[in-house]
Amino acid sequence: MISKAYTSFQLRSLVLKNRFIKTATYEGMCDNGRPTQQLIDFHARTAQGGIALTTVAYGAVNPDGRTHEHQMYLHQGIVEPLKELTDAVHRAGGKASIQLTHCGFFSRNKNIRGNKPLGPSKVLNTYGIMSGLAFSRAMTNGEISQTALDFAYAADFSRNVGFDAVEIHMGHGYLLSQFLTPQINKRKDNYGGSLENRMRLPLEVIAETRNAVGEDFPILVKLNLSDGFKGGFTIVDSIEVAKALEYAGVDALILSGGYTSKTPFYLMRGDIPIWDMTKVEKNWLQKIAIASFGRFIIRKYDFTENFFMPLALQVRKAVQLPLVYVGGVVSRQGIEDIMKEKFDMIALGRALIHDPDFILKIQDGSIQKSECNQCNICVAEMDRGGVRCVL
Ligand SMILES: Cc1cc2nc3c(=O)[nH]c(=O)nc-3n(C[C@H](O)[C@H](O)[C@H](O)COP(=O)(O)O)c2cc1C
Repeated sequence: MISKAYTSFQLRSLVLKNRFIKTATYEGMCDNGRPTQQLIDFHARTAQGGIALTTVAYGAVNPDGRTHEHQMYLHQGIVEPLKELTDAVHRAGGKASIQLTHCGFFSRNKNIRGNKPLGPSKVLNTYGIMSGLAFSRAMTNGEISQTALDFAYAADFSRNVGFDAVEIHMGHGYLLSQFLTPQINKRKDNYGGSLENRMRLPLEVIAETRNAVGEDFPILVKLNLSDGFKGGFTIVDSIEVAKALEYAGVDALILSGGYTSKTPFYLMRGDIPIWDMTKVEKNWLQKIAIASFGRFIIRKYDFTENFFMPLALQVRKAVQLPLVYVGGVVSRQGIEDIMKEKFDMIALGRALIHDPDFILKIQDGSIQKSECNQCNICVAEMDRGGVRCVL
């Protein structure tokens, strides 16, 4: 069964040489929003490790969609380095995808227009308080429509610079996920209230994006199985949204969970590197806040292998479209189990940060399991020169 993971798979016109995806892990390798040689090398190295599809993290669909000023947003000024990146991945025998995102209210971007981050509703933005962005503003209907067009533009732009697929981020508490979450989306119009209304913008994004990229180009979606807190988006909601996305012609769903502003370690599990997070924080007030209250505010979740499997299986039973399993893939046995449960592809984060040759070594039998110990210091490293394993 493990050999199936090493067989090819097709998404529209894109042929992937195996079932493995390097999932988006924010690299922290842009200089004032411009992709660096370090980012190019990181993804080329991932492709050299035999991964079929490597995902560049956090491509904001407009300047205000960045959580902070240093993230990239997709615009003409960065065509050249992105072309170099996709060329380098192709030369290394892989394919490249980019995660298209808008942060919504979860922002500390001081350059934001109007001095208020946008979201479905006005909410307290604890992440941005120390940057003077304490509250979000509810988007107007015009801003909602423009956002769908911005995703479509960003997807077409990505295709033109050589990406082979795009991944629309609908999870982890970013804008589209904020629309899906009842506790955050308090709108009284047809974008809030019922699940049907809450999924309206995500579906409009898919429709506009398909319209922009044409029929051949794969669109993947990262969707939450659960937000991981009471009052959030649940597995029951997730199944319904998965069905709607299937109907809308999405090519594959990557099933994750958690909310960056509330349950950030639900999506990773394992240790919370409070000390390292404190050290990399540049804002002194925030630094003091993390050091003093971090361990009381940030909830810890124990790591287990394939930790999203029980929830992901519920979606597997409800839809036919290709599903990508993500979360805690660290061993040969774990890969075997995922294939047995009829997931089509497997996405990995930390096992590849730890060792980009992980899947080659599993294939040739030289290792059975990753030595990543889920210390999660890689999370702090994103802001300390670029994501890497410290082990
Ligand atoms: C350092 C780091 C950065 C991450 N950045 C992102 C991101 O930019 N976008 C995203 O969707 N998920 C992000 N994640 C979550 C991963 O994509 C993945 O869902 C999670 O790590 C679970 O997979 P794993 O157990 O294979 O690491 C990040 C995870 C880590 C460890």
